[in-house]
Formats: sequence, structure tokens, C-alpha cells
Amino acid sequence: MKYKIPRGTYDILPEDSQFWYKLMNKFRELCRLYNYHEIVTPIFEQADLFERSVGDSSDIVEKEMYKFQDKKGRVFALRPEGTASVVRSFIENNLGRQSSITRVYYSGPMFRYDRPQKGRFRQFYQYGVEHFGSEDPFVDAEVISLANMFLTKLGLKNFRLELNSLGCRDCSPLYDQALVNYYSSLKTDLCPDCQQRLTKNPKRLLDCKVDSCRNYAREAPSILDYLDENCRRDFELVQKYLTDQGIEFIVNPRIVRGLDYYVKTAFEFTTDALGSQNTLCGGGRYDGLVEDLGGDKTPGIGFAGGFERLIEIMKIENIGFNESSEKSIYLVLLGDQARAQAAGILHELRTNGIKVDFDITKTSIKAQMKSADKAMTNYSLIIGDEELARKTVILKDMSTGEQQIIQKKELVSTLIPLVQQ
Ligand code: HAM
Repeated sequence: MKYKIPRGTYDILPEDSQFWYKLMNKFRELCRLYNYHEIVTPIFEQADLFERSVGDSSDIVEKEMYKFQDKKGRVFALRPEGTASVVRSFIENNLGRQSSITRVYYSGPMFRYDRPQKGRFRQFYQYGVEHFGSEDPFVDAEVISLANMFLTKLGLKNFRLELNSLGCRDCSPLYDQALVNYYSSLKTDLCPDCQQRLTKNPKRLLDCKVDSCRNYAREAPSILDYLDENCRRDFELVQKYLTDQGIEFIVNPRIVRGLDYYVKTAFEFTTDALGSQNTLCGGGRYDGLVEDLGGDKTPGIGFAGGFERLIEIMKIENIGFNESSEKSIYLVLLGDQARAQAAGILHELRTNGIKVDFDITKTSIKAQMKSADKAMTNYSLIIGDEELARKTVILKDMSTGEQQIIQKKELVSTLIPLVQQ
């Protein structure tokens, strides 16, 4: 074959698309319950929006952005994540003007040029929420609760919540300095990336996947010993509010997240079922970001997760969505008259909300009934020239084989109770 799908991407085939659609709808339903409203932003933005927010020293900006110039030489990037775009839109459209709190959710494709592997794609589909306007730790617990509720409502069991505080812009630099002190004597033993991180972004040293670096990370100072009073108190409150809701968590001071905008609460929902790409969703606070990108001082917190990993773990845990109970009708057309009238009948059924299938390439009753069987249809509607002459149609229950003759003018009123059963 001449053309191939780009590496790290995939097709959502018709047999799977229902599954995606339902997952998205479940997320939408839940967001509505928490009073979040949908926001849709473009899939590309000015590249420096991500450079400023996600951070110059993050892997995403350093190595993984799909950056390109348009015909006028402007530099854009396919969005690697959703938060920066939402913050841009929040500022540009002055979304905070109507209420002190703004809650939005989104879903859509994101792009990162990373080495593809199980659970890691170059184009992947995220769902996420952003909450603007409150610094209260109550909100942190509320946002985490939404993520927890989503995973729980899907029926997932094999996941845990890992929680950390990254400190604020006052205490976080003290911790960075402690890490620099700890790692300086180890510098030559670190991987090349970590040697760079030591000067650019010391916290990212804790996130390295190279074995030798991981061993050093285990012994590194803990952020929890460097939180100032305010951050410590807020972190305790987040934990209290989660406990009040019965949400279990573990405090993991090694959670640093891969994006630079985070302060204070950071969290990840992880699983042992997916191998190395084990984060189902992750998020945290970004209280300085709106201001950094040119808006008024506005605190924010959110999370995002990838649909691919969800689908993968749902397959592993054997979780499906209940198939719709909607009954289907198959139209079997015999003879020229019936075919000539088919369009009008189809139109009438669909106008009345009745789902109907047929195969115009087949003419014999045998071939059409075989197709109806294959499509696992509930009822077939047999329409032949003879029936039409008598203004009737034959309705066949495919599970019992029973047939009844019904008046054509009563077609819709007969079918509606059957399909809605
Ligand atoms: P993130 O941790 O970079 O955070 O990504 C969130 C989730 O997206 C991951 O936990 C994972 O489920 C999924 N994901 C990330 N990269 C890939 C990939 N290459 N292939 C498949 N799935 C992937 C963010 O994006 C932040 N914007 C989250 C956030 C929202 N923080 C505050 N608000």
C-alpha cells in the first residue's frame, strides 16, 4: 500500500467509534453535574504560548512540539496540551468577567512528538477541566473529586490517587536549591538530560526514568520539608477535604509533573495495569499562569487525562458500556415498486426517530434476509409489490420468526412502541 498512517497515530474505526463517543458523553454528563461548561479552542496556537506556559525547560517544549511556520512566517505549534490554550482564551475573551468562578471542560486531540509506545501516542485525545478564580483548597479537592468520580463511574478499580504539593513561588526555589546541593556531587553520575535539569529545572530530576537517576531520586530531599506555612496548611486541608469525601490517596513527594506552570497541589491518578505509561490523568494548581500570560491575577487548577489509556485499561478490566437497548429495523425491498417507494418509507421512519438499515445492492429476499441477520437486526420490514398493492407491509420479528401484516398507514404507530421497548 502506498500511504500509511503517521507513526504514533491511529484510526478510530467505525467498530470502536461508539465506544469513544460514549466515553466522551460520560465525561460531558459528569462535568455538567459539577457545573462545568464546554470550551473548544483551536488545535494550533502561537508556539510561544506553550513556551511561556508549559515551560522552556520541559520535555514537551524542548523536544516534543510540532512547530511550524505559516505562509507569513508566523510560528505556530500543534497544541501539546489544553491548559495553555484555555488560559489564553480565558484572558482573551475575558471569561472571568461574569462570575468570580469560571469552570470549563474540554476534550480533543493533542500532539507530542515523543517515541511512541504502549499508551503513548503522537496524536492522543485528552479530556480535561480547568477551574479559575479560587485559591481555596476546597476547590482542589472538588477538582480531584471530579476526576475520581469519572474513573469510578466508568467502573475502573485498579487505580490510585497520588498527591503532592510543589510549594508556591516563595518556597519552591528553596527546595530547588536543596536539590541542587544534593545532586551537585553526583553530577557526573547523572544521565545527560539530568545534568541539564540540574541547572534548568531541578525538580524534574525526580521524574527521570533512568535507573541510576531513580536511585538517587529516592534519597533526595523531600519537598514536604520545604513547604512554607501557608502551603503546608493548604496541603493539609486538601487532604482533609478528600478524606471527608471518602477519597483515598497516597502522598507522594516525588510527583513533580512535567509542565512548569504548577504550584502547590499536584496529583496523578495512576495504575499498575498499563506498564510504564501508567498515569491515567494528572493535574494541579497553576496560580501564576493567568498573570504570566497577560491576564489579571487569577488562581487556577485543573487536570487532564488521555482517552487511549482509559480505553486500554477498560479492555484489561473487561469493562464495556451497556449496549444501547434501541431496537433496529431492516428494510427488505422486493420488486421495482417497493424500491421506487423505498426513499419515502425511509424518510417517514427516520422522521419519526426510527433507526433503519437496508442494502440496496441486494435484490433477492434470501440475500436481504441474510444481511438483516448479519446486522443482528430486531425486526425486518418486508415490502413487496404485492403488499404495496394492498397498502400493507410484513413485519417479521427476527428472534421468533413470527410475521404479521400491518397497514402501511399504521407503520409508524406500530413500530414506535416496538423500537422503544
Ligand atoms: P499531562 O500530564 O502532560 O498534563 O497529560 C495529562 C494526561 O494526558 C496524561 O496523564 C496521560 O493520560 C495523557 N497523555 C499525555 N501524553 C500522552 C501521550 N503522548 N499519549 C497518550 N496519552 C498521553 C497536561 O496535559 C496538563 N494540561 C493537565 C492539566 C490540566 N493540568 C492542569 N490542568
